Amino acid sequence: MIGRLNHVAIAVPDLDAAAEQYRSALGAKVGEPQDEPDHGVTVVFIELPNTKIELLYPLGDSSPISGFLEKNPAGGIHHICYEVDDIIAARDRLLESGARVLGDGEPKIGAHGKPVLFLHPKDFNGCLTELEEV
Ligand code: CO
Repeated sequence: MIGRLNHVAIAVPDLDAAAEQYRSALGAKVGEPQDEPDHGVTVVFIELPNTKIELLYPLGDSSPISGFLEKNPAGGIHHICYEVDDIIAARDRLLESGARVLGDGEPKIGAHGKPVLFLHPKDFNGCLTELEEV
């Protein structure tokens, strides 16, 4: 059912420093910071040959990233995102397997303009897991 790894999202305590590290030390193609007010994050997209990295930094007072950075002050992997062809079919299959979908269970439009869902990390070996319909 799952397809390609769409991205790995890393919460970072200093967005400029992290972007510069990927640009200079790792030689990656690094985009400009983009504010995503609906998601409470500022994101820097990094294009790799086979996937993307998203550097996440809190935006606003109620950012979902703030608590994560309090627990992980040096930053850390926040979630991974897999591609699926049909997000409703994927959700229903996962619910049937006993997995929990976060929020109201309905797909939302994610940072790439495509429908996304998040799955409870406790149901996926401690890893917050995003599905994106492509
Ligand atoms: Co994501």
